[in-house]
Amino acid sequence: MKRLVSVALAMALTACSQGSEAGVGGEISAAPGGPPPMPQPITLAQRPEATGGEALYVEYCAMCHAPNGMGHGLLGRRMDQPNLELREDLTAEYVVTAARMGIGNMPAIPRGEVSDEQLEQIAEYLAAGPHEGVAQ
Ligand code: HEC
Repeated sequence: MKRLVSVALAMALTACSQGSEAGVGGEISAAPGGPPPMPQPITLAQRPEATGGEALYVEYCAMCHAPNGMGHGLLGRRMDQPNLELREDLTAEYVVTAARMGIGNMPAIPRGEVSDEQLEQIAEYLAAGPHEGVAQ
């Protein structure tokens, strides 16, 4: 009986080590004909010249509102609207209200995340648009 157990144990260990070898050796590579790689998110590192409201926008809003963000694509209900930075019809008041209350698929942005002063700067930056030269 003891021998049977040790044989079973040896088989189990062999199976485990074979499994992990395959895992370590296997590089994750795109399947041929598979989806293209994810686009890089827009971060402050990519826009080092940004200051004030623009920098705050990149930090707190661009992860959703930049072209590859969910707010701009997947969750945005209106596909015909350009990126917030390219809009010319936004007022600062509208931006503050949308961010604080949430709008459609956008969650409300709480004061613990973006303070009133920060949101005011972001709103003024967006209201002063369109800001040419940013990604579509
Ligand atoms: C978690 C993702 C997310 C974040 C973070 C986010 N938004 Fe949004 N936002 C959305 C989505 C999604 C929509 C589109 C809502 C809809 O149409 O259903 C939207 C819509 C808006 C609109 C309305 C645009 C219009 O045409 O009416 C404004 C203004 C806005 N966001 C401002 C901001 C600001 C300012 C910030 C940063 C403080 C921000 N958002 C952060 C997802 C986000």
